[in-house]
Amino acid sequence: MSETVRIVEVGPRDGLQNEKTAVSVADRIAFIEALLGAGLHTVEVGAFVSPKAIPQMVGSAEVLRAVGGRDGEFHVLVPNEKGYEAARDAGAQVIAVFASASEGFSRANINCSVAESIERFKPVIARATADGIKVRGYVSCVLGCPFDGEVDPQAVVDVTTMLWDLGCYEVSLGDTIGVGTPNKVRALLRACAEAVPMQSLAMHFHDTYGQALANLYAGLEEGARVIDSAAGGLGGCPYAPGATGNVATEDVIYMLEGMGIKTGVDMQKLVAATNDIAGLLGRPPVSRVASALNAKRRAAK
Ligand code: HMG
Ligand code: MG
Repeated sequence: MSETVRIVEVGPRDGLQNEKTAVSVADRIAFIEALLGAGLHTVEVGAFVSPKAIPQMVGSAEVLRAVGGRDGEFHVLVPNEKGYEAARDAGAQVIAVFASASEGFSRANINCSVAESIERFKPVIARATADGIKVRGYVSCVLGCPFDGEVDPQAVVDVTTMLWDLGCYEVSLGDTIGVGTPNKVRALLRACAEAVPMQSLAMHFHDTYGQALANLYAGLEEGARVIDSAAGGLGGCPYAPGATGNVATEDVIYMLEGMGIKTGVDMQKLVAATNDIAGLLGRPPVSRVASALNAKRRAAK
């Protein structure tokens, strides 16, 4: 496998949105700058959502304004037109709308049905497109829902197709609660790729059951080439009870480099960025690679 793989670093958004300790705007900016300094290019930096729903993302406009001029591509979540206007005014280049394949999670997360959410996104996507802002789509709960249990793959294909047809340039498939296993991932990607080109499908896997890297490997073998990950394995969603963090960016980079896929990421700098944010949060990173390199460094002292 020698092609390139695009990493979408979601640590500053997915990684921090579920933390008990809200990380300050200044510290979020420093985290993003450290990630860019490590060689990551595409970073999801915030969310223009209700401050009551996710207080951790308050200040996303300041964050986006601070980093927006840097070399890179910066994404922000937008749930509705109000969020769209705020994101546009803060200079967003790429917004991400987020739907669910399951009704239970849609209701808990964005307080509407799946069909209503699609109606809500229509004017957002149309306005963004007219304003020259790219739109990414997310589908959550593609391999299971914390409220509804099993999710029909056809429901995932349907929502993915709707987002694509509305004009999303890429659709990210979220295993929100990390319950998927490799063969399910293969089947799901194949089914979605009937409607959306495989290179326009992203894999967004939380690692609750320790399957994320295996699932990514299976997805890469199927031809998927976009991976969402979070430095240090941070992440989770307050509306997805029991879910843990995203697959760790360090672990993904280690696997890809080991497979001969160049990422351009400096592992030492990435681990330093991870250690800094872990220090602020008051606990060590869950990333296996960061833990291994930290232990090695301590042993060498
Ligand atoms: P609602 O209560 O139905 O909305 O929430 P509303 O339109 O009735 O508004 C209620 C209040 O929120 C009003 O304020 C609005 O002004 C305000 P009030 O009059 O009460 O003072 N409001 C907003 N404020 C700022 N920005 C906005 C905005 N919209 C309304 N954009 C809503 C519906 C969608 C707004 C709410 O449920 C919400 O913000 N949800 C976001 C939840 C969220 O961010 N979840 C985490 C991200 S998704 C995720 O993590 C999954 C993902 O990683 C993929 C995966 O892993 O599967 C992407
Ligand atoms: Mg997520």
